[in-house]
Amino acid sequence: MQNEIEDYYRQGGETRRLDAGAGRWEFLRTWDLLQRTLPAAPLAILDVGGATGVYAGPLAAQGHRVHLIDPMPEHVAAAAALPGVTAAVGDARALAEPDAAYDAVLLFGPLYHLVARGDRIAAWREAARAVRPGGLVVAATISRFASLLDGYVRGYLAHEVFARMLDHTLATGEHRNLGDDRHWFTTAYFHRPDEPPGEAAEAGLDFVRSAAVEGPLWMLPALDEVLADPARTEQALRLLRQVEGEPHLWGASSHLLTVARRPA
Ligand SMILES: C[S@@+](CC[C@H](N)C(=O)[O-])C[C@H]1O[C@@H](n2cnc3c(N)ncnc32)[C@H](O)[C@@H]1O
Repeated sequence: MQNEIEDYYRQGGETRRLDAGAGRWEFLRTWDLLQRTLPAAPLAILDVGGATGVYAGPLAAQGHRVHLIDPMPEHVAAAAALPGVTAAVGDARALAEPDAAYDAVLLFGPLYHLVARGDRIAAWREAARAVRPGGLVVAATISRFASLLDGYVRGYLAHEVFARMLDHTLATGEHRNLGDDRHWFTTAYFHRPDEPPGEAAEAGLDFVRSAAVEGPLWMLPALDEVLADPARTEQALRLLRQVEGEPHLWGASSHLLTVARRPA
């Protein structure tokens, strides 16, 4: 992993990133999608780029056997302390896992940190190899337009450096943090919504579906008020289920999930 990505994660933000606001909404929606995508427990699940185990922990609590891979030793140590989760340091492009050993593989992180397309295909191929025939690969990507929207929502576009970064991102998909604000994230690739199915197909997987994670709701100024109210949260989840497969909204969602299957 590149040094600047390591430096970014060494600051330790992943333990609390999904606790509030847009992060909490990202977690609730990703979890909701996972619950409707994965077959019932017990499955053998490989969580590649699983960080501190935000999804691995709850999946293990449901009775799945979860093994987590991440390049950051600090993340792996935190994940390995979770009940029912095993974890090891590793890289999505070269997994030290046997062929066809898992019922499902999650790629929630690697695809947006691998800037070169060949590296992303390698990560998809490794997931396709580790999952059993008929098993699922579920992958998260970040929208090409997330930085543009974030620039306005959070006021980052007031900074000339951010505006320059954004021009490059919109043109190429490549995001490089040229400033010193950690909220501007780190080296990443931001996909156009139509790209992940092609990457999955190139790795030999059958595309199943794409779904918006947050939809446009991550931009709501009053998002925390909605999430503090169980009835309003349930309403938002119900509405997002209705539009998650709507391609016209995908680019406005911060994250997109792509579901693909290894041919039987
Ligand atoms: C933003 S975190 C996402 C964590 C969690 N999976 C989630 O969805 O909230 C991205 C994770 O991807 C990991 N990562 C980055 N490059 C990777 C690679 N080449 N292989 C595997 N994991 C990688 C990082 O260390 C980090 O833990």
